[in-house]
Amino acid sequence: MADERLIVALDFHTADDAKKLVDELGDEVNFYKVGMELFYSVGAEIIHWLKARDKKIFLDLKLHDIPNTVAGGLCSLMNLGADILNVHASGGFTMMKTAAQALHDEAAKRGVACPKLIAVTILTSINQAEWYGALKISEQVADFAKIAQSAGLDGVVASPQEAKLIRDTCGENFLIVTPGVRPAGANIDDQSRIATPAAALANGATHLVIGRPIRAAQNPREAAQKILAEMRGV
Ligand code: C5P
Repeated sequence: MADERLIVALDFHTADDAKKLVDELGDEVNFYKVGMELFYSVGAEIIHWLKARDKKIFLDLKLHDIPNTVAGGLCSLMNLGADILNVHASGGFTMMKTAAQALHDEAAKRGVACPKLIAVTILTSINQAEWYGALKISEQVADFAKIAQSAGLDGVVASPQEAKLIRDTCGENFLIVTPGVRPAGANIDDQSRIATPAAALANGATHLVIGRPIRAAQNPREAAQKILAEMRGV
């Protein structure tokens, strides 16, 4: 059974490239992230293809709009059967609460499992120098996490550097999904607030979203196996 704490980001333009990576990773990886690049170009087809292979899906479209629009958008996305959907926490308490409630009501009405709903706190590419808020990044992230939890969301997306603070603030039963994960010595690309896979898990992350360190590796399967081996130790 693959370690479902690892979510591999399928950031491709074409379905063929995404399918090639999924086939290459085979049984090693069971959980995939479909984000805007792939979804905007190929749409639902890739979700159906992944589900036909029993893969789990985090559909990372980061909805950010007024409460009614986000709630409606999420209920439409629920038709696809993804396991995790997300919104931006900066959309506010009312937006998140309305969205979570609408998803639960719609799932109950249809008699289907409700996808987990998580909130993006502050993008892992933003560093303190670039940050425009009044609070420190870590304080703002913890604040967003508290608001998301009280709005009824299942967890947050945050940097592995803030995972411990979020765990301490929100308790055990809360998903912490961390991009910005880089094995020691790997290229950091456009990420800023990073940590290694082992450190991210030790800090309390429940899931690691990893893209380029696997996708851009000469041998993606070997790269994934190395990351999985490091994760096994935690
Ligand atoms: O290639 P890399 O490992 O940096 O990919 C990280 C993935 O996580 C990307 O698909 C990116 O969209 C996503 N992500 C992120 N920061 C967030 C939320 C999602 O990097 N706060």
